Amino acid sequence: VVSDLPTWLTMQRDELPTPALCLDLDALDHNIDTMAAARPDTTLRPHVKAFKSTELARHVRDRGGHRSFCCATLREMEGMVDAGLSDDLLLANQTLDAARLGALAARSPHPITVAVDSTETLAVALEASERGPVAVLIDVNVGMPRCGCDPETAAALAARARSAGLEVRGVMGYEGHVVGNPDRGWRREQVARSMAVLREAHALVGGEVISAGGTGTYDLHDWVSEVQAGSYLLMDTAYGELGLPFRQALSVAATVLSVNDEHYAVADAGLKAFGMDHGDPTMVDHDVFFCSDEHVTFTWIDGRRPVVGDRVTLYPAHVDPTVTCHERVWVLRGDEVIEAWPIDLRNW
Ligand SMILES: Cc1ncc(COP(=O)(O)O)c(C=O)c1O
Repeated sequence: VVSDLPTWLTMQRDELPTPALCLDLDALDHNIDTMAAARPDTTLRPHVKAFKSTELARHVRDRGGHRSFCCATLREMEGMVDAGLSDDLLLANQTLDAARLGALAARSPHPITVAVDSTETLAVALEASERGPVAVLIDVNVGMPRCGCDPETAAALAARARSAGLEVRGVMGYEGHVVGNPDRGWRREQVARSMAVLREAHALVGGEVISAGGTGTYDLHDWVSEVQAGSYLLMDTAYGELGLPFRQALSVAATVLSVNDEHYAVADAGLKAFGMDHGDPTMVDHDVFFCSDEHVTFTWIDGRRPVVGDRVTLYPAHVDPTVTCHERVWVLRGDEVIEAWPIDLRNW
């Protein structure tokens, strides 16, 4: 459990129990500063799903100056409210759990906002609003085969919400099918295409909030009121291919457990230490062969044969599902461990 650890420790990276999720604080701060310069204050709504830690959210608020956040789950919303980070929280997702949403609205000191894309999810927001202030954003499908409705349905939902006395703050439309493509020109074109749909919906719905985007498109939006980016903080090797000005701040430290003659070596970070949906993690000076539950098997290059007990560093291909595999992230400046931040919002 996390609670039996002090939040700071005088340790070096090589002394950490492995596998260890490690955060390079200088790289994180570079990422926060770079994004805050491009999208200051409420023009960015950092997405908590990418890092799942209220300590990290607090650091983003204090350093980057962003006071509004978005979440993917009710658990993340609850944690952010309990941590006092509730100034302007958006559940950028649908929920059918009126009891849990209502309890959240009742205990939040500030109104909460929830995305809706159907009469069913709108009914849930309405029911929850009986227990505390709830506002809605109409979630519009801008091309990704996931949640969101078409502009006409958005207009009908907004009218229905308003006639029931619910505040409609505006629209959201996440172009998740676009954000990860390495071709910047293609991303630009597709953002324009997606935002044409969102514009149509916004003209019918109104409201001052127009929420869209992610790390890969944060600087390709010239019309929305806010961008929902989260991965930019920690980064991963998939986003690393896009040439964005953000540094890889997250890695996993592992220990070599076994070396098989001249062929391969094995370290103690496997499938359970990484989100693998974007592929294998990447190593410096080594090539990942494959991952199994608790192991990574790798080959080495240029005569850099490891020995048992060596430490190796792995960079995840997908940050969000990697973070949620770990109970804490070790915060480092250089090789010195300066704090341990709980991943207190991990799981759902
Ligand atoms: C609704 C929503 N908005 C924004 C994002 C952007 O996140 P990222 O910073 O990873 O591009 C995501 C990521 O999956 C998302 O689901």
